[in-house]
Amino acid sequence: MNPKRAEGTTAGAREPEAAWRGLHAQASAPYRAAGRFAWHFARGKLGRDPVFRSLLERGELRGRARVLDIGCGQGLLASLLQACSEAAAQGQWPAAWGEAPQARQYTGIELMPRDVARAQAALRGLALAPRFVCADMRQAELPPCDLVVILDVLHYVDHAAQAALLARVRAALGARGRLLLRVGDADDARGFAASQWVDRVVTMVRGHRAPPTWGRGLTQWCELLRGLGFTVRTVPMSRGTPFANVLLLGEAGAPADGAGA
Ligand SMILES: C[S@@+](CC[C@H](N)C(=O)[O-])C[C@H]1O[C@@H](n2cnc3c(N)ncnc32)[C@H](O)[C@@H]1O
Repeated sequence: MNPKRAEGTTAGAREPEAAWRGLHAQASAPYRAAGRFAWHFARGKLGRDPVFRSLLERGELRGRARVLDIGCGQGLLASLLQACSEAAAQGQWPAAWGEAPQARQYTGIELMPRDVARAQAALRGLALAPRFVCADMRQAELPPCDLVVILDVLHYVDHAAQAALLARVRAALGARGRLLLRVGDADDARGFAASQWVDRVVTMVRGHRAPPTWGRGLTQWCELLRGLGFTVRTVPMSRGTPFANVLLLGEAGAPADGAGA
């Protein structure tokens, strides 16, 4: 036994810090094939946005074979899931994080054709074989899945469209599915204004027609999800940023009345 190994790790497993560095490098690497912007963006976003590492540390992606990523951008989550499977297969997964995620199917839905093109150029060779659909989430078909991830996307569409999409998400998840939804808390005026400002600049640069403006307070988000039959937990998710982002973890119980497709 290696006396330097921290308590709780297994043979070959890495310390969390080294493991995250490896995952970050591994998940960014495929984007070199999609050009300098795609690669720098992947490195920057995976490295600076606290949500990706946090989802792994907290085990939120564990045990979910079929993943649906709505508003997936250039598909960073698909690349990260692939990197997780490889790290686990090589005995490089930190024991402190529990079992590694083992996604078997990934579908990403994204409105912007340029993001989809970058995702496909970068990730077409992955064993996970991610599928990217260029479509508006308000109309796109949602495949049956075990995990739906929606990170910083819902404020692009109005309140009625948010509610309609979440009802379809609930139906696609079935019993015991999980929703990971990151939103800005509109009740935190300063943090929400900061993210609104950044989003407006980014969406203008990226050629979006509609700026993302439709926020809700955290209480309203929770009520909306509970009304659809989710059990909801909330986790602050803007560490190291000026934003008011919160991750809502929705566990699907028995389908709620009226929560159909
Ligand atoms: C802030 S980005 C987040 C990207 C990704 N979820 C992540 O965390 O890296 C929001 C994404 O939602 C996409 N989006 C906005 N409205 C959409 C819609 N109606 N249908 C599908 N995607 C949409 C945007 O094009 C953009 O890629």
